[in-house]
Amino acid sequence: MEIHVIADPQELGALAASHVVAAIERNSQAVIGLATGSTPLPLYRAWAASVAESKLDVSQVRGFALDEYAGISPEHPESYRSVITNEVVIPVGLTPEFVRVPPSSATDADAAEYDNAIKAAGGIDLQILGIGRNGHLGFNEPGTAFDSRTHRISLTPETIEDNARFFDSVEEVPTEAITQGLGTILDSRIALVIATGESKAAAVAAAITGEVTTDMPASILQRHPNVIWCLDTAAASQLPAELIGA
Ligand code: PGA
Repeated sequence: MEIHVIADPQELGALAASHVVAAIERNSQAVIGLATGSTPLPLYRAWAASVAESKLDVSQVRGFALDEYAGISPEHPESYRSVITNEVVIPVGLTPEFVRVPPSSATDADAAEYDNAIKAAGGIDLQILGIGRNGHLGFNEPGTAFDSRTHRISLTPETIEDNARFFDSVEEVPTEAITQGLGTILDSRIALVIATGESKAAAVAAAITGEVTTDMPASILQRHPNVIWCLDTAAASQLPAELIGA
């Protein structure tokens, strides 16, 4: 496990992006797991800038989004299909046909097909992850089984409240979603977790130093062989000093 603590969000994004770029330099057909939310946006901007500067060929890169709201129209500006297209595919220059988002129809068959498509692509080389205040990864809320594969779930009131900022009102936030499972995430070769802000500090500390328990989904990362944590100072503020070289 690596833990990086960087105060400046742009620098943090650049560091995180350098790991994504390195994965593509190692393998031009790298399979990248894509997270939505606010936290990875500086990473996506830095990734796009790095591709533009270095002329890195990303045309063969494969992408699999972590999750999608159930029942949302793919054309809705806050569907994760739209967000991944507008924040990642277009700015970075990925090939749209190679980037998948779980279908919002979110049936059991859709979920199984999505998980199988990840396996058929050779598995995820590098999974970009955010973390929820409650420790969720993707939309795997507390209580989700560690061996879960892509599946449909109900969002907790806390997650609905956190995501209301993207919608006109809390009533508009979908209450269900389809998400890669914790087992799917654990299969990734590298897990790159980004967390910023004081509101994530308790979840980050619990995930890294606490008990491995389904009450704290991100604690499963203690069982992952290759995790890179990219934290700002506030998100790292509850970690023991010896872990962050402070
Ligand atoms: P955020 O979401 O980046 O918008 O804080 C992260 C998450 O809930 O996983």
